Amino acid sequence: MAILIRGGTVVNHDWSRRADVLVEDGVIVAVGPDLEAPAGAEVIEAGGAYVLPGGIDPHTHLDFMFMGTVSADDFEWGTKAALSGGTTMVVDFCIPGPGQSMLSAYQDYRRKAERATSDYGFHMGVTGWDRDTFNDMETVVKTYGINTFKHFLAYKGALMVNDDELYHSFSRCASLGALPLVHAENGDVVFRLQERYLREGITGPEGHAYSRPPEVEGEATNRAIMIADMAGSPLYVVHTSCRQSHEAIARARAAGKRVWGEPLIQHLVLDDGEYQNRDWDYAARRVMSPPFRPKEHQASLWAGLQSGSLHVVATDHCAFTTEQKRLGAADFTRIPNGTGGLEDRMAVLWTAGVGTGRLTREEFVAVTSANIARILNIYPRKGAVAVGSDADLVVWDPAATRTISAASQISRIDYNVFEGYEVTGLPAVVLSRGKVAWIDRELRAEAGDGQYVPRPAFPAVAVADAQWRELNAPKRVERIDVTP
Ligand code: URP
Ligand code: ZN
Ligand code: ZN
Ligand code: ZN
Repeated sequence: MAILIRGGTVVNHDWSRRADVLVEDGVIVAVGPDLEAPAGAEVIEAGGAYVLPGGIDPHTHLDFMFMGTVSADDFEWGTKAALSGGTTMVVDFCIPGPGQSMLSAYQDYRRKAERATSDYGFHMGVTGWDRDTFNDMETVVKTYGINTFKHFLAYKGALMVNDDELYHSFSRCASLGALPLVHAENGDVVFRLQERYLREGITGPEGHAYSRPPEVEGEATNRAIMIADMAGSPLYVVHTSCRQSHEAIARARAAGKRVWGEPLIQHLVLDDGEYQNRDWDYAARRVMSPPFRPKEHQASLWAGLQSGSLHVVATDHCAFTTEQKRLGAADFTRIPNGTGGLEDRMAVLWTAGVGTGRLTREEFVAVTSANIARILNIYPRKGAVAVGSDADLVVWDPAATRTISAASQISRIDYNVFEGYEVTGLPAVVLSRGKVAWIDRELRAEAGDGQYVPRPAFPAVAVADAQWRELNAPKRVERIDVTP
């Protein structure tokens, strides 16, 4: 089945021009001016709109058992929401349960994802350290095609790992050619601050933000960067939400360390004033970690995206209903942490980024797909409008408008943190591996359309780093023998 997208302007991270795009059997077979439609091909008129690589959201938690409940969007509905917003691939987190092996967790997640409508992959969680973990990591990389391992420096008593565990795991990542990811918040300090605010009678959602100030994130980001460096490993910092964390990343990069940072769309446009809302439900629905920050942090995150010291805009989509949020009615530490954003990421970023001149169209493509495809070693299969790439394509109408509202969303939750936000710029047509998934504001994707995307290890960074270290390692000085 062939599809010709005609009359658009192709936008990649590194070039843009007027060009048609021809797709056959799920793959892009031609990009250029005035392409001929093969007999029987479906022709989509782009009408001067942009043709972008499908978005990749590298940070979602679909069907995730967390804080005593399970996130409300599963792989079917989460990926439907994604496709409707122009995101054609998600990378979710395979987090082993207490006492569960990585290998068994992987089987569980593959089963959960069978009904995915878009392509997907996984990061593997490292929640402790022992001989089995060391061994299983090799299978995860070489057999399962997962080249990223996630570490939580927060969630004390649950997912949190300590510095010794981090050092072991980062070293193992380096030797396997895998990339470690960190959720960087100092879980010990958060735990004490939570105790303190509860003691002072602050039991509502504002306590969540007070107990996780930017300093706990800045400290943990810096620590993870230094430990990764000592272990000879690159590092990817998820949900970079504040100036302190961004500065730690920028400093590390200026010193030659391979460190990448991922702001979320929520942190770019929403601030901590949300937690002061008098309506408990309203504030609790916005509880996520790290929390929304004072406005001035947003300028730092935007600056990072502009200058290249931050690289990827994700969502951390981990949606809980109002009813689920009420598990923490008497105690903010029990409010399930997480917000949604999968269907709105692209449109909100286009509006707040490209629509204001903070980002170019090419930079938009870089931070929504191309950069993460390169970081995850799936470029240019994903993240590019190029011959041979998967036909994950978005016909992007820069003039289309919509007011975001839970009433018209695909996500299964009963609210939207962007409620009332007016976007200009929306997907008109979305192709997922050559199949029309979204057109005329209607979803055509079906459960099971999505495929698992394995990602090979990429040892080049660790090999180069080891070579440089060897060259510069302390060495014994050979001296002319002087007899005493
Ligand atoms: O609050 C959040 N971010 N929930 C999902 C789990 C995580 O920390 O990423
Ligand atoms: Zn996290
Ligand atoms: Zn280094
Ligand atoms: Zn997350």
